Amino acid sequence: MGVNLRGRSFLKLLDFTSEEIRYLLDLSKDYKALKRAGIKHKNLEGKNIAILFEKDSTRTRCAFEVGAMDLGMGVTYLGPTGYQMGKKESIADTARVLGRMYDGIEYRGFSQSIVEELANYAGVPVWNGLTDEFHPTQILADLLTIEEKFGKLKGVNFVYIGDARNNMGNSLMVACAKMGLNFTSCAPKELFPSQELVSKCKEIADKNGCTITLTENVMEGTKNADVIYTDVWVSMGEPDEVWEDRIKQLKPYQVNADIMKNANPQAIFMHCLPSFHDLKTKIGAEMGEKFGITEMEVTNEVFESKKSVVFDEAENRMHTIKAIMAATIGQ
Ligand code: CP
Ligand code: NVA
Repeated sequence: MGVNLRGRSFLKLLDFTSEEIRYLLDLSKDYKALKRAGIKHKNLEGKNIAILFEKDSTRTRCAFEVGAMDLGMGVTYLGPTGYQMGKKESIADTARVLGRMYDGIEYRGFSQSIVEELANYAGVPVWNGLTDEFHPTQILADLLTIEEKFGKLKGVNFVYIGDARNNMGNSLMVACAKMGLNFTSCAPKELFPSQELVSKCKEIADKNGCTITLTENVMEGTKNADVIYTDVWVSMGEPDEVWEDRIKQLKPYQVNADIMKNANPQAIFMHCLPSFHDLKTKIGAEMGEKFGITEMEVTNEVFESKKSVVFDEAENRMHTIKAIMAATIGQ
């Protein structure tokens, strides 16, 4: 049976079959080829989208804006202040208002339940641009990047190292289980993903002939890795007080040259960005001074090395988000 995603929301990868994810990846490749060839693709001319951001963003916001404009759509950006939702108007009422005016709605914010509620009431597709629990549009870009580098997804050994229970750790584990990559979470036990999600992913992985492993041991965990993936140690929305403990917990899990050497010779380094790989940011400099460190989740050496594909991932955000919008609004 053909895949038809028209009218569907994109809230988390658990809601999508492997075939549907494959369809979105193939569509992303088509859009990337059109963009590279300079061929116009204004398939959604006359449509409009609203993008709601309760947290900061560079990649996700720009990918939605440029993606929408390339597809011929109008875009309204609503930032953390200046609109009514949450203060004077409920999520359900906001969703019903926006659904009367727009053909699709993106939401970045806090609890997954907010994006789910928006989707329940909007009557148009709602896309999750990051919640505390999941970041599914990022994952599609990551899968596309891995496939471009290795020519396949199935059987690739994927290691996520760091805060394994944040939105990235959760979403990548689901994606690997769905698409046949062997997934390892390498983290201190306190930062392992929830047992409930691990069990769900193990069930999916079993069906797809791949594995889910959790380990605290860095050298064991990263051995034979094709992909070493990390993310910031403290995510947006977490209180500043957690920095000190998190740095102590995760310092041994910093991605450095030894870890990359321990992985397979062709291994690549991935990160959703933004990244604290030097002191050239306000928070990086602040933490550097407070805790005597010069780099956090990844060393500058690895970040800037040939193995690092982080900017390919960033570009792929746009091609994949375009595919999600086109497939769900209806091309
Ligand atoms: N990776 C990612 O979502 O980046 P932004 O926070 O800049 O959107
Ligand atoms: N885990 C990070 C991802 C940023 C794209 C955060 O939520 O801040």
